Amino acid sequence: MEGYGTSTHRSLLIGVGTVALTLACVWAVGAAGEDGEGYGLGRAATDEEIRAWNIDVSPTGEGLPPGQGTAKQGAQVFAAKCAMCHGPTGKEGPKDRLVGGQGTLMTGKPIKTIGSYWPYATTLYDFIHRAMPFNAPGSLNPDEIYSVIAWLLFQNGIVKDDAVIDARTLPQIQMPNRNGFIPDPRPDVPGK
Ligand code: HEC
Repeated sequence: MEGYGTSTHRSLLIGVGTVALTLACVWAVGAAGEDGEGYGLGRAATDEEIRAWNIDVSPTGEGLPPGQGTAKQGAQVFAAKCAMCHGPTGKEGPKDRLVGGQGTLMTGKPIKTIGSYWPYATTLYDFIHRAMPFNAPGSLNPDEIYSVIAWLLFQNGIVKDDAVIDARTLPQIQMPNRNGFIPDPRPDVPGK
């Protein structure tokens, strides 16, 4: 008897589920149909949704938001949110070393850091905004990002301690290894 009761219960649930699914489909097709487009699926992304996804910053600075910062402000951001993984001065680790190493790339023990290796300063904005702090990516606001960039560039001897970093000044910074890369001459290499 118990078994009978359970299976009735189950088929009832399946019935309710099927009706709900059918209604959802009718609603979805109807809703999309109102736009009168294509297969009647989905909807146009809103400007806000596109802005949230469209976070890449190009070497020319395209995509950099308003905001600004200096090394002095950045020192506080770095100490609070980065030093536990990259060390108090950005050299000690335990994670990637961010400071120093200039002039080591051609030696037997190259040390690749922002200062020794990165060709474009604007990549700092893209990468830090996208991926750091490693345990809370996307949590920094533009002023915090610009100021921690200013601090990292200052530590690497690339800007002065009072330099203001913003959407206008960051693309103008000439990175020490800017001309250290050789263009790949092969045509149509995947991932190029
Ligand atoms: C919880 C640990 C952790 C914290 C906190 C952290 N990072 Fe990182 N960071 C990493 C790890 C791990 C990598 C290597 C990631 C990879 O290779 O994908 C990395 C890589 C980087 C790199 C790229 C280094 C290179 O040359 O490839 C930069 C720049 C960087 N972090 C900046 C920051 C900044 C700025 C902060 C603070 C806002 C921060 N990180 C906080 C763990 C951390």
